[in-house]
Amino acid sequence: MAKERFEKPTGTQDVLPGAVEKWQVVEAKARELCRRFNYREIRTPLFEHTGLFERGVGETTDIVEGEMYTFKDKGDRDLALRPEGTAGVVRAYVQNKLYGEPDVSKLYYIGPMFRYERPQAGRYRQFHQFGIEAFGAVDPAIDAEVISLGYQFYIDLGLKDVRVELNSVGNAPSRAAYREKLLDFLRPMRESLCSDCQRRMERNPLRVLDCKVDQDKFGGAPSILDSLDEECTEHFAKVKGHLDVMGVEYSINPRLVRGLDYYTHTAFEYKAAGIGSIDTVGGGGRYNGLVEEIGGPDQPGIGFGIGLERILLILENQGVELEAAKPLDVYFVALGEAADLEITKQLFRLRSLGFSAERDYLGRKMKAQMKSADRMSSRYTAILGEDELNSGVIALKSMETGEQRTVKLDELAEALIQN
Ligand code: HAM
Repeated sequence: MAKERFEKPTGTQDVLPGAVEKWQVVEAKARELCRRFNYREIRTPLFEHTGLFERGVGETTDIVEGEMYTFKDKGDRDLALRPEGTAGVVRAYVQNKLYGEPDVSKLYYIGPMFRYERPQAGRYRQFHQFGIEAFGAVDPAIDAEVISLGYQFYIDLGLKDVRVELNSVGNAPSRAAYREKLLDFLRPMRESLCSDCQRRMERNPLRVLDCKVDQDKFGGAPSILDSLDEECTEHFAKVKGHLDVMGVEYSINPRLVRGLDYYTHTAFEYKAAGIGSIDTVGGGGRYNGLVEEIGGPDQPGIGFGIGLERILLILENQGVELEAAKPLDVYFVALGEAADLEITKQLFRLRSLGFSAERDYLGRKMKAQMKSADRMSSRYTAILGEDELNSGVIALKSMETGEQRTVKLDELAEALIQN
C-alpha cells in the first residue's frame, strides 16, 4: 500500500537552493544597512502569550479578531505564533529592562511571522519581515531616520518606483476629536456601507477608511491632519523637514490608517506596484503608548516592518538581478582508489583554509565528474590520477580558460590563491 504523502500547509513556502540565494542577499543587505544606521539585532520567540498580542496589536484589529494561530500548550497556557514583530520586541525591551540603558535602543529583526489570511500572490500564512524598532526618543529626527532606513533598503536592493506615503494619526486627544468628525461624516451613509465598515464604525471608525470595498465613498471624508493639536502638528512638520533634507521623497496621505492599533503620530507605508491588488510592501509608525500598555515605563517607540516575500516578488517582476551566489573554487576529480583517499585529504585541507570545494561521491567516470564541476560553476577542477599521485602533483584546470597546468600537491592552495 502506498504511504501517505504530505504537502506543505496552505500559505507556506519551501525556499529551495537556487531561490534561497536571493533570500540570503536580501537578508545580508538588511543586516549591512542596519550596521550603517547603528541598529542591533534582537531575536525574540516565534510564539508569545496570546494576551500580549491582544493588548499590543489591539482587540479590534483584523489580526487579533481572526488571523492569529493560537494554541494551548500542555501546561494549558494560551499561546500564539507571532503575527508581527513589534509586540514581542516591546515585551523583550520591558522584560530585559533595556529602557535602563542610557542611549536610544535601536533594534532590528528578520524572521517569520504567522497570520491566518487568505493566501494570494504576496500574501502568505507564514511570511517574513525585516523590521526595526527604536525606543526612548520622541525626537522627530528618529521618525525620519526610521523612514529613511526602509527607503534606503529599497534603493540598496535596486528596486524601482517605491513610494513613501506619510500621515500623522496624532495623539489620543487628537484622534478622539477626529473620531467624532469622521463619525458625523459616516453616519448618513451607514446603510450603504459594507458590513465590515458598519462593524468598524462601532469598534474602530478610523479603520473604515482602510476598506477596499467602499474606498471611493470616502473622497469627502474629513482629514485627520485638520484635527491634530499643536504638538502633533509641530511633530509632523519636523518629521517632514528631516525627510526633506535627506532627499527622501514622500507623499502625504491623510487617509493612511494602519491595520494595527498601537500607532500615534507618524504613520507611513512603502508602496510599489507589481503584485496583483497588493501595493503595500512595508509599513510602520510611532507607538508612544505601547511600552506602557505592555507593563513598561512611559517610553516612546517607532519602527517598521517590511515583507520580504513582497520584495522578492517585485524584484523579480522588475527584472532586478541580485548578485549571484559565489561559485565553487575547485572540484576534485579522483581517478583510482589511492587518489580517492588523497582527494579526501586535499578537500578537507582546502575547505579548512577557506576555499569552497567539492568532489564526486557517486563513483562516476571522469567525464560525468567534469560535467558536475560545470554545473556547479566551479572555477577550477583538480584532477588526480595514479601517475600524478606518484609524483606528488595534481592537474589544475581553469574551467574559464581551459588552461591546464601541473602543481605540487602541497602547493595547491597557493596556486589557487595566485589565480
Ligand atoms: P504590517 O503592516 O501588519 O505591520 O506588516 C508589515 C509588512 O509585512 C506589510 O507591509 C507586508 O509587506 C508584510 N506582510 C504583512 N502580512 C503579510 C502576509 N500575510 N503575507 C506576506 N507579507 C505580509 C507590522 O507588522 C508592524 N509590526 C510594523 C511596525 C513595526 N510598526 C512599527 N514597528
